[in-house]
Amino acid sequence: MPTLFSPFTLKGITLRNRIVMSPMTMYSSVDGRLDDYHVSYLGARAAGGFALVFGEQMAITPDGRTTTSCAGIWDDSQVEGHARVTAIVKRMGAVPAIQLGHTGRKGSQLPPHKGVNADRTKKQLPPDHPDGWTCVAPSPVPYGYGGHTHPVHALSVDEIRALHRRYAEAAVRARDAGYQWLELHFAHGYLAASFFSPLANRRTDAYGGSVGNRARFLLEALDAVRAVWPEQYPLTMRLGCDDLNPEGTQFEDSLVAIRMMKDHGLDLADLSLGFNTDAMIDPPMNRMSFMVERSHRVRQEVGLPVATSWNLGIPQEADRVIREELVDLVMLGRPALANPHWPIWAARELHHDSPFSLVPEDWRWWLENFRGHAPSIGWPAVEPVTSRQ
Ligand SMILES: Cc1cc2nc3c(=O)[nH]c(=O)nc-3n(C[C@H](O)[C@H](O)[C@H](O)COP(=O)(O)O)c2cc1C
Repeated sequence: MPTLFSPFTLKGITLRNRIVMSPMTMYSSVDGRLDDYHVSYLGARAAGGFALVFGEQMAITPDGRTTTSCAGIWDDSQVEGHARVTAIVKRMGAVPAIQLGHTGRKGSQLPPHKGVNADRTKKQLPPDHPDGWTCVAPSPVPYGYGGHTHPVHALSVDEIRALHRRYAEAAVRARDAGYQWLELHFAHGYLAASFFSPLANRRTDAYGGSVGNRARFLLEALDAVRAVWPEQYPLTMRLGCDDLNPEGTQFEDSLVAIRMMKDHGLDLADLSLGFNTDAMIDPPMNRMSFMVERSHRVRQEVGLPVATSWNLGIPQEADRVIREELVDLVMLGRPALANPHWPIWAARELHHDSPFSLVPEDWRWWLENFRGHAPSIGWPAVEPVTSRQ
């Protein structure tokens, strides 16, 4: 029976445990570059025991960012910053992963911490604002909520083909920068998710209508990347598999699309919500591990390894979903922000034989051999302190 701390092998890559730092946009880039900020923030999570470390959704074009402070990999000059990140992540014993994406009709925003309305929804900047632009979409339908009301540009077939070339070019840069795991972002209302959702996609050509047509943009992105991404490295995608709205993406359609992606060389499915509308029926945001049931169905019915995030930050719950073989990997977003050493803390909580085996070897030696008074190293004692004296 696997546990949270069992290794996991996919293609030529073995992860040291099942704990993944989920991609999180940091709004801290200049000209889309990664710098000391990202080296220190991502290096700390690798040192903290995460097995697979994602930075944020990396834009394949400048207008594929959420804000002008977001990171990307659309230009060769950006490779150096990514290479610094992959080097520190590997040095700390983790595998560096990249998520490629395009924000589509959810771009042109202010960072949430600077641009949230009184009702806490995000605010989109108009195209004529110095930090704004005209967003692209499958159809001329703006997102519509939280100030996302500016007109969007519906992509032509030639423009779609050009974007797929940009996916492939970004993947080549990711390979050159040293990443060993690549995820395509097909969730959260961004461009690919909006092609898949009937709420956003009203096209009548080969990219709209049936499930197969709505999945075409996603499959072609996958094909473009598969053609250049090394075979020994996993190629995965995060799908917004349910819009929780009767007019939007339906989970049963997602099962069909993931089967198609498997035939196109997908190695693992990471399941999330569609977020193509704010009008979600009974949103489960405060329920523990709410994506696990759907993820398990993908694992069973499609026969692919699966990963998922959402409210899995309680160690006993994260361990349970692995032990019961509901999912293969647990992804942590906010818990990884809050605690760079979450895996080591979880190991203590779960009475792992050697929690410090998760930290770099030189620290481990000191922590295991120079104990002193247990709480003096900053850990709450799992056993009563007296038993260690
Ligand atoms: C600050 C922040 C930024 C995020 N940015 C991304 C992103 O770039 N790509 C993505 O797929 N998900 C993004 N997410 C979603 C997380 O990856 C994760 O799926 C979500 O937070 C649920 O996991 P959690 O309950 O462990 O936080 C972001 C979440 C947060 C909190």
